[in-house]
Amino acid sequence: MKVFKTIDSIQNYLSINDKNKSLGFVPTMGALHKGHLSIVNKAKNENSIVIVSIFINPTQFNNTDDLNKYPITLENDLKMLETEHCDIVFVPSVNEIYSKSIKSDDFDFDGLDKVMEGEFREGHFDGVGTIVKKLFEIIQPDYAYFGEKDFQQLQIIRKMVEKNNLPVKIIGCEIYREDDGLAMSSRNTRLSAKQRNEAPLIYKTLLKAVKLFPEKDIDFVKNMVKKVFETNDTLVLEYIEIADIETLNPALIKNKDNKYRAFIAVFAGEIRLIDNVDLN
Ligand code: PAJ
Repeated sequence: MKVFKTIDSIQNYLSINDKNKSLGFVPTMGALHKGHLSIVNKAKNENSIVIVSIFINPTQFNNTDDLNKYPITLENDLKMLETEHCDIVFVPSVNEIYSKSIKSDDFDFDGLDKVMEGEFREGHFDGVGTIVKKLFEIIQPDYAYFGEKDFQQLQIIRKMVEKNNLPVKIIGCEIYREDDGLAMSSRNTRLSAKQRNEAPLIYKTLLKAVKLFPEKDIDFVKNMVKKVFETNDTLVLEYIEIADIETLNPALIKNKDNKYRAFIAVFAGEIRLIDNVDLN
């Protein structure tokens, strides 16, 4: 496994590689867990060369405390990637990516960025678009892999690729969960024992929503979720939304031709957890 820190070094290496070999790319911010590795594994099965980037992107953090507390476990990350037979790891510094101007570009994602995570995390998706576009330009992958854990991010990247005609195919990957259903996240390691104990309620409640969705109207399902969290003193609901998977617009009534997902964000103390499920 090769590790590169600079744009020049990775591009030099890639330029001497066989252009006919398909290149699969998995962007991450490190603090890797089995959810990330499941994506790397899928990419490995579908490509000749797999590149993983590890870069904590400052422009997508609307909360500096969240950025400062983001776990850094590089040594362990590299060991895990080696076990997964990753070929190349790109670990640039902030300076390498942004030079002196640590700013986002402005994107038009046709409104996909205005709801849910976009509403509660101002500027977040411009930051994500900025870094992913930069990484695509540096690496020029054939396929890039993103988790459905961040479903809104996945749809926004698809939109960016479509609007900018970028020559990369975006592949969505299923959410990888702990045995008790909690979606794996780098933030889970920051949960206290009590918070960790309560956190599986998030997915359990989403599964209840999946069960109710065919028979009940949308408000009924959302109110059920709200009530569950009103009576829990460890987890505080930020939002529950049921949205069309293409437009991500919150749905008011069900249309049989559309597909829907339920999206949730919950605070455990200062730690923010998100999850989502397919309702069809
Ligand atoms: P990060 O949170 O490190 O996630 C990297 C990739 O792993 C994302 O595509 C995310 O959706 C996926 N992922 C995280 N947890 C997962 C789980 N439990 N199951 C399946 N996939 C999971 O998302 C980012 O980094 C950044 O925004 C990034 C795209 C790298 C841009 O900076």
